[in-house]
Amino acid sequence: MKDLFDKIYKDKGPLGKWADQAEGYFVFPKLEGEIGNRMKFQGKEVITWSVNDYLGLANHPEVRKVDAEAAKQYGSAYPMGARMMSGHTNLHEQLQNELAEFVNKEAAYLLNFGYQGMVSTIDALVGKDDVIVYDVDAHACIIDGVRLHMGKRFTYKHNDVASIEKNLQRAEKIAQQTGGGILLISEGVFGMRGEQGKLKEIVALKEKYNFRLFVDDAHGFGTLGKTGAGAGEEQGVQDQIDVYFATFAKSMASTGAFIAGDQEVIDYLKYNLRSQMFAKSLQMQLVVGALKRLDMLRSMPQLKEKLWENVNALQNGLKERGFDIGTTQSCVTPVYLKGSIPEAMALVKDLRENHGVFCSIVVYPVIPKGLILLRMIPTASHTMKDIEETLEAFSSIRERLENGTYKRLSAGVAAAMDD
Ligand SMILES: Cc1ncc(COP(=O)(O)O)c(C=O)c1O
Repeated sequence: MKDLFDKIYKDKGPLGKWADQAEGYFVFPKLEGEIGNRMKFQGKEVITWSVNDYLGLANHPEVRKVDAEAAKQYGSAYPMGARMMSGHTNLHEQLQNELAEFVNKEAAYLLNFGYQGMVSTIDALVGKDDVIVYDVDAHACIIDGVRLHMGKRFTYKHNDVASIEKNLQRAEKIAQQTGGGILLISEGVFGMRGEQGKLKEIVALKEKYNFRLFVDDAHGFGTLGKTGAGAGEEQGVQDQIDVYFATFAKSMASTGAFIAGDQEVIDYLKYNLRSQMFAKSLQMQLVVGALKRLDMLRSMPQLKEKLWENVNALQNGLKERGFDIGTTQSCVTPVYLKGSIPEAMALVKDLRENHGVFCSIVVYPVIPKGLILLRMIPTASHTMKDIEETLEAFSSIRERLENGTYKRLSAGVAAAMDD
């Protein structure tokens, strides 16, 4: 019989196998200093384009003050226990009410983490007779939630309305046999490439098919819509989203998340969400911090305006210089280049070491072979100088990519990878 750990010793997994070449630089890099437009990487200042602090709240003095005071008052233990048992407070309730109002829903419920909360909400919403229909490019938290489902599930082609309809028809056939219902799950904004989910078109399908819509709006909350209520507000269909989800890990620059919907639905989830029933309540300093951040989202529209000023300057600047930024409809700014993985590694090194620009890099198997995706997250704390310097840097790396410099520089790595 095999030792369970045999596979661990032999195979570190699809990402783990690159650890020797990548760790500390391409993965698990250490960004140091205060969170902002410029941080330190390996002792040198870099312009940071990989931090989801959309509204620049992470290091805002008022936020830092409230966080510090809340930590002083409550410590990191309070309240002890799960919400249902001994971890419930007036401030948890107040935050839920204010979040519900902000996203135009009757009620909301707090989650400790977005990822775990999404998994758990999917689990609570469906039974074995129900059918799930979801986007093939969905975030891992949706895929993992679907994995818990004991019934049928269908993926549709990314943001493809004809494929959504086809899969709703398949789902309907099954649901008619089992006597179950249908849950359709989309993201408000797809975080890798920046397109918004086709919520308007999905909602229109409610005329023909009987399903409930669950939207993960991690990247839309605080950044899209007139008031910042997200992709549903932006597309004019917020009232047709049956369960709305957002995390505090992006615009709110914190930890935690919430779901919102009709009172009866949220009441049901409150009593059936295993991630909250069997885990400690969101700690008080995070609740107090979230109340402050939400207040700033409501009262400081200039934060979102500044964010979009920067998004537009960066995205237009890239387009004017002939870069392919795909079909983004949000702040998420992908830049697609053609090259191999070793070339991508040499390119990112050049960007960081010689141009002081730090952004995330995505390669095969996340995107097709031969493509390099540099993913940039503009925030309200970036300056026009940051943007100009970055655009200059991008023009320079494209030139070096096209004239074969990175191919030459990475020849050794490429040979090692072929081994
Ligand atoms: C689309 C999406 N959903 C859910 C999550 C998970 O949220 P959290 O970081 O709060 O666990 C993320 C990443 O943060 C995300 O990008």
